Amino acid sequence: MNDEYRLADPAVHEEEQDLELSLRPRSFDEFLGQEAIKDQLRIFIEAARSRGEALDHVLLVGPPGLGKTTLAGIIANEMGVAIRTTSGPMLERKGDIAAILTNLEAGDVLFIDEIHRLNRSVEEVLYPAMEDFQLDIVIGEGPSARTLRLDVPRFTLVGATTRTGLITTPLRDRFGVTHRLDYYGEEELVQVTSRAAAILGVEAEEEGLAEIARRSRGTPRVANRLLRRVRDYAQVKHDGRITREVAAQALVMLEVDSEGLDKVDREILTLIVEKFGGGPVGLGTLAVAMGEEHDTIEDVYEPYLLQRGLIQRTPRGRIATRLAYEHLGISQPGGEEQLF
Ligand SMILES: Nc1ncnc2c1ncn2[C@@H]1O[C@H](COP(=O)(O)OP(=O)(O)OP(=O)(O)O)[C@@H](O)[C@H]1O
Ligand SMILES: [Mg+2]
Repeated sequence: MNDEYRLADPAVHEEEQDLELSLRPRSFDEFLGQEAIKDQLRIFIEAARSRGEALDHVLLVGPPGLGKTTLAGIIANEMGVAIRTTSGPMLERKGDIAAILTNLEAGDVLFIDEIHRLNRSVEEVLYPAMEDFQLDIVIGEGPSARTLRLDVPRFTLVGATTRTGLITTPLRDRFGVTHRLDYYGEEELVQVTSRAAAILGVEAEEEGLAEIARRSRGTPRVANRLLRRVRDYAQVKHDGRITREVAAQALVMLEVDSEGLDKVDREILTLIVEKFGGGPVGLGTLAVAMGEEHDTIEDVYEPYLLQRGLIQRTPRGRIATRLAYEHLGISQPGGEEQLF
């Protein structure tokens, strides 16, 4: 696979960082959709605030681009506390996490992104910190080493991960609240793009935004990216206004199809169908055949294909469904017989 720009790619490129920042909601009111999660968090936050306590630790789970980092920021804002952000891979040694914990103020939010990538020794420092707000520090070496117990301020850990299965049970058990973010519906994504269009000063018709929303793989980040790409197209090829027709043309150019699948999605389906006889095929085999990272397939592509009913998970691997054949316009071997 070459390194061309891909819409579903969770990596936020430098040129896009400002865009994500300017569009990032700062409060629950700006955070569109995910009503059940917001309702619950609002209650927990109000309760914690009125007791003058730190909020319980929160674990946010879900595919890339659905708003985990955004929610962590909103939680801190709504609690009226500071947020300190780090990530699993950045915390290499026990000392890294100890330094961060001892520098927090009471009530602060510590956001650990990609928390499934914490190494075991760092994770072990986290257990007593999360549970008893204490830190065990070893001073000295060899026979004269002593353990010192330090108090850390009562803080709120917000962890983000793409899959709960990746987190160890002891860590998972220490979160008081776990929220799973689901793909967004079309109407919610119309709201997301319409908010973004207003912020960016883009002129767009509701129908044009709906066309973008429908093809954004249920993901606000993708919707915002598409909006920007479609805006470019509208500016260069038309008068700058995003209509349904303009959006549809732009999406054809961007190779996003009617189901919102991009090139990689279609490549996965085509491979399963053409090279592996429709499956079952293991994810590892697929990843190798595509020259793609196993994790990227599992975290970014597979969940959406599953959600759209284009592939299915079986104990022996992934299979392409009837819908996948239909979508690719390939007839399914033995497909007709299965009807009877
Ligand atoms: N509910 C929402 N309402 C409006 N915009 C949203 C919402 N959720 C996400 N966004 C937009 O999508 C962008 C990506 O969201 P965010 O960075 O929070 O995703 P993430 O779940 O942390 O992704 P990753 O797993 O890749 O870190 C944000 O900058 C924001 O503009
Ligand atoms: Mg994030």
